[in-house]
Amino acid sequence: MIRTVCLNPAIDKTVHVPGFALDEVNRITELRVDAGGKGINVSKVVDALGGSTRAYALLAGHAGEIIRSLVEEMGVELVSVDVPGETRTNLKVVDAELHTNTDINEPGSPVSAEDLQRLLDVVVADIEPGDTVVLAGSICKGAPTDTYATWVRACREAGAKVFLDADGAVLDAGIDAGPTMIKPNDHELSGMVGRELPELADIDAAAREVMARGVEWVCVSMGGEGALFVTPETTYRATSPKVKVGSTVGAGDSVVAAIAYAQDAGLSMEETIRLAVATGAANVSMSGTQAAPRELVDSLLDQVGIEVL
Ligand SMILES: Nc1ncnc2c1ncn2[C@@H]1O[C@H](COP(=O)(O)OP(=O)(O)OP(=O)(O)O)[C@@H](O)[C@H]1O
Ligand SMILES: [Mg+2]
Repeated sequence: MIRTVCLNPAIDKTVHVPGFALDEVNRITELRVDAGGKGINVSKVVDALGGSTRAYALLAGHAGEIIRSLVEEMGVELVSVDVPGETRTNLKVVDAELHTNTDINEPGSPVSAEDLQRLLDVVVADIEPGDTVVLAGSICKGAPTDTYATWVRACREAGAKVFLDADGAVLDAGIDAGPTMIKPNDHELSGMVGRELPELADIDAAAREVMARGVEWVCVSMGGEGALFVTPETTYRATSPKVKVGSTVGAGDSVVAAIAYAQDAGLSMEETIRLAVATGAANVSMSGTQAAPRELVDSLLDQVGIEVL
């Protein structure tokens, strides 16, 4: 079972406004509302691949109720701890005339230490040995920087593998707690080690520095360039199938989901890599926010290139 955690979910409201102008009345031509949050995205993709998954989230107010119904409509099981306030709504203004994408994000309400602990207790009580817990995305307002470190330790002690996909100080603190796997993109990894990583060998070396702090292995995603999979014994370089890009939103989440699914199903590292990169490519080829169907992923498997660095 793959359990995903969303500490800072949001409603993503995408509005299309051709010729968006400041200081004017703007007209929306198209509107869609999605349940946002990296944990929820990961569950959506695991489900589409045929895996078993449950999402856990802190939800608040009316927006929280909307997220619950959107996730349930996707057929993904959601367990929530209800907290005071109102879950964020993030507005995305897409302007096809001026070719701009403008994000207007709410800060979200602060969450108390007690409520955070309540969600952690629920997740830990559910963990069965061999499960994977995916901790993904930003943490809620008011939560301490070492929040993921606490969660990594608690979930590992309960017998789960833990995948951590976060950024900045929160990720840095989480790493020292020994997650099983992290999936930074090349820019995030560069920020972690505090230097530019121009060559694949530099990325490999940086990933190994991070592993020396107690991470079992690292997947460094590199957008359209594919990804590096760095294990204690081997570094694999995977190249992505060429696809027409629909939307790259959530590309990283789909890779995390496929890795979790593949490892949970007992696939080899090479099979895991193939599935992860094909899933990433399949999902960027889709225009909406729905997960790519399994058949599309399978049709791209043969086009993933894998070489040992
Ligand atoms: N333009 C593209 N063409 C083909 N595959 C892509 C493209 N962009 C991303 N991918 C696939 O998705 C994976 C993850 O992409 P990326 O490195 O951009 O993740 P990320 O920066 O973590 O994204 P996110 O915004 O979801 O956090 C890549 O390793 C690749 O397999
Ligand atoms: Mg990412």
